Amino acid sequence: MSARRGEGSSGSGGGACGRGAPAIAGLAAALLLLLAACTPVLRGTPVPGPIDTTDVRVIEGERHFAAACHTCHPNALAGLGPGIVDRPLPRWLVRLQVRVGVGVMPAFSREEITDDELDALLDYLDALRRR
Ligand code: HEC
Repeated sequence: MSARRGEGSSGSGGGACGRGAPAIAGLAAALLLLLAACTPVLRGTPVPGPIDTTDVRVIEGERHFAAACHTCHPNALAGLGPGIVDRPLPRWLVRLQVRVGVGVMPAFSREEITDDELDALLDYLDALRRR
């Protein structure tokens, strides 16, 4: 009989990586997700074409919109205020919002925007939606 010594296996020594860094990365990712969730829903919106420039009412409305609304609703999209043409808002609702100024938006009197000018402005918004 011969005694054999078994071949010993060497121990494994896997070290643990530093904690902390993955946790921060996870937090950053969560923050980014949160930010993405809060940005306006314009992703996937096709690049719009030009508006109908043969309609004088549309051109007139564009002028009034640029003067009264563009600062807060750039190109009728979200800025300080929410987007107007990226959702189906009926004309009466836009008219009401302009005259009454629901929420923090200022109201516009008939001296500031006449009914006729507001009609043209709504034609312009319709033209933007049709693009
Ligand atoms: C001083 C900035 C400002 C100006 C100027 C402004 N808006 Fe607004 N608008 C806002 C804000 C802010 C809101 C959101 C109101 C709220 O809910 O508190 C809003 C909301 C709206 C809404 C409602 C949107 C919805 O989803 O219900 C419409 C429509 C609208 N504005 C149209 C206009 C038009 C048309 C003009 C120009 C005549 C105009 N706004 C000028 C800031 C402005």
